[in-house]
Amino acid sequence: MFKIAVVGAGYVGLTTAACLSSLGNEVRCSDIDSLKINKLSNGISPIFERGLDELLLSSLQSGRLQFSSDNKWAVEKADFVFLCLPTPQGMNGEADLSYIELAAKEIGQYLKSGSIVVNKSTVPVGSTSIVESELHRTDVSVVSNPEFLREGSALSDFFNPDRIVIGSRSPEATGMMKKLYDSFSSPIIETDPATAETIKYAANAFLATKISFINSVAAMCEVVGADVRVVSKALGYDSRIGDSFLSPGPGWGGSCFPKDVAAMIKMADDTGYDFSFLKGVVAVNEAQFVRIVDKAKKYLDGSVTGKKIAVLGLTFKANTDDLRDSPSLKICELLIQSGAIVTAYDPTVSGQIVGISIFESPFDACSNSDAVIIATEWEEFKTLDYAKLSVSMKNPLIIDARNILNPEFIRGLGYVYEGVGHSL
Ligand code: UGA
Repeated sequence: MFKIAVVGAGYVGLTTAACLSSLGNEVRCSDIDSLKINKLSNGISPIFERGLDELLLSSLQSGRLQFSSDNKWAVEKADFVFLCLPTPQGMNGEADLSYIELAAKEIGQYLKSGSIVVNKSTVPVGSTSIVESELHRTDVSVVSNPEFLREGSALSDFFNPDRIVIGSRSPEATGMMKKLYDSFSSPIIETDPATAETIKYAANAFLATKISFINSVAAMCEVVGADVRVVSKALGYDSRIGDSFLSPGPGWGGSCFPKDVAAMIKMADDTGYDFSFLKGVVAVNEAQFVRIVDKAKKYLDGSVTGKKIAVLGLTFKANTDDLRDSPSLKICELLIQSGAIVTAYDPTVSGQIVGISIFESPFDACSNSDAVIIATEWEEFKTLDYAKLSVSMKNPLIIDARNILNPEFIRGLGYVYEGVGHSL
């Protein structure tokens, strides 16, 4: 078992810290946000992630997981230092490396000789070398070990990875990393840092591509009278295509896809390669937000101005409280720009968002509305009492942007119903 430091207690850092400590390692996790650290030390997770609260508590109780806002304390005895820091989108789409550079500069003073700095953050190709030079240490190795965790299933993704990617120029460091992941049976890709960094961007860009592709097929299905749900199912049976990430919807979003796709396009542009393919993937996604709003307009005499539109689901997908780059919020923005009065309900969101009235119950949000848009595939929206809902609506119109409802059943309740990519 190893002594491990995790710098950054966001969802990747926290998941990594809790999971590695549950495997028997001694983990120290640091973050500049001392309020967050206080909460974590008392077993309170700042994020909504299935199973994390329980794992956090048991790891704290075992004494193998500790938190502090002091990076020196976290890293000075560590065999491995995981950098799990944000790489937000910069002004021109590039990934902003400043958090990583600052942290590397600081911890370089404290690392023990022979330790391994592991970059888990999604960083542009070449960043491993930048970390190496910021550390100013020749006795420490830097390894790229990208994460493939999905919000909402981060713990199970950590314990059952499809693959583990280790990008390193040091055979000794690669050997140590393999020891750390000894209990995992997943394939291990041993490669150089630049290839490891590219794998992460390519994976997210490809998944975003699949979604934009199926959203384009959905648009075509609507025109030719086909059903994208059946098309998607049939495609999925082809093992060369696979059945995941082929659900049409309101477009892709979240804290990763938009920024990573933008960063990949920028990286390519900077090297003189016009990644026009990925630019098309983004354009399809932007158009998808507009397409959902247009669906509402179609049934409201061509305009949502002055109309009350209720949006069910604000998070970028179900089983998370994350609103970052949420397609639902993009749709709300477009509605507001078009003069609509926007109300909303989401099981994990309360408080204020400019221009949106957020309610504690879906029935209150939908009361007296001209249309409902289902923007997030929360389980509770599948079984809502739609008969009761229709009574309180001014105009029983449902735009099901996630295709989660049974159109026949919903129409039977007196609604006008429209999904994505089918006219059933
Ligand atoms: C994504 C990747 O799936 C992870 O492998 C990766 O580690 C992570 O980014 C990251 O880089 O940290 P996540 O952002 O949690 O994970 O979200 P996804 O589950 O991938 O969903 C992304 C978006 O695509 C959501 O808006 C979702 O609703 C949408 N989506 C997904 C669809 O519209 N259709 C689908 O079939 C699948």
